[in-house]
Amino acid sequence: MDIVTDIGLMHRTAQALRQDGKRIGCVPTMGYLHQGHLSLVRRAREISQVVVVSLFVNPTQFGPQEDYDSYPRDLPRDIQLLEETGCDILFQPAAERMYPPGHSTVVEVQGLTGVLCGASRPGHFRGVTTVVTMLFDIIRPHLAVFGQKDAQQAIVIRRMVTDLHQDVEIVVAPTVREPDGLAMSSRNKYLSPRERQEAPVLYRALQRARSQVEEGERRADRLVQGMQRLIESESSGHIDYIAVVDTGRLQPLEELAGEVLIALAVKFGRARLIDNIIFNIGDNGVPGTSMTSASPERPSPGGV
Ligand code: PAJ
Repeated sequence: MDIVTDIGLMHRTAQALRQDGKRIGCVPTMGYLHQGHLSLVRRAREISQVVVVSLFVNPTQFGPQEDYDSYPRDLPRDIQLLEETGCDILFQPAAERMYPPGHSTVVEVQGLTGVLCGASRPGHFRGVTTVVTMLFDIIRPHLAVFGQKDAQQAIVIRRMVTDLHQDVEIVVAPTVREPDGLAMSSRNKYLSPRERQEAPVLYRALQRARSQVEEGERRADRLVQGMQRLIESESSGHIDYIAVVDTGRLQPLEELAGEVLIALAVKFGRARLIDNIIFNIGDNGVPGTSMTSASPERPSPGGV
């Protein structure tokens, strides 16, 4: 695996690969890699000829009170995992090079970014769309793989790519979970042993909602109530939001119809955990999965 830190070199490498007719697949990450990230690398491996993983803890997507300085980092381990997983190029730019003095340009998707995680993390998605646009310009990928774990992020990025006519195919891969259902996340490291034990309640709450839907429930408020009760009774987590929205505009639904996203964010101490499920209420009223080729949400330790 080549490690590229220089932006100009990455740009030239990408140009040369394109001229050679190679299909470039890119996986943007902030490092401290786990099996969720690595599943995206494997997916990219399957559908492209050269896999570029970016590792950049992007300062502009963290709020002033957030964990930029303490965000977990372990570069030697990340390098080893990427070598083992079949990454061709690790692009790891320095923050001072990505955002040199005078940097003043942002990319902002409106509407979709003021709700759900955007409501409690103002400016977060502006940071994400700005850095992802820069990464797309530098790496020039034909496709980029993102995780459904961050469903709103994937939806916002799809919107951005469509609106700006960016020539990148966005692929969304299913959420990888620990055996007890907890979605893998670099931030799980912040959980105390007790919080770690409680945290799978997010997954159980989503599963409860799914069962209710399968049994015919179509009222969003009933689903939210059920999830809220479960989380409050079985954990010390502080609910940030539980939302039932459509995947197109991320607007709250009263009655479930079409493609539905149920998303939640819960704080355990300093860890803010998110999770979601997406399904389609078909014309026959039966829920099925969509957005990714995932089978219905089940724990998928170590890969999908
Ligand atoms: P990061 O949190 O490192 O996540 C990188 C990618 O891994 C994202 O597409 C995320 O959705 C995916 N991912 C994380 N946990 C996952 C899991 N359990 N299963 C499947 N995929 C998972 O998301 C970011 O970084 C940043 O916002 C970034 C896009 C890199 C821009 O800075």
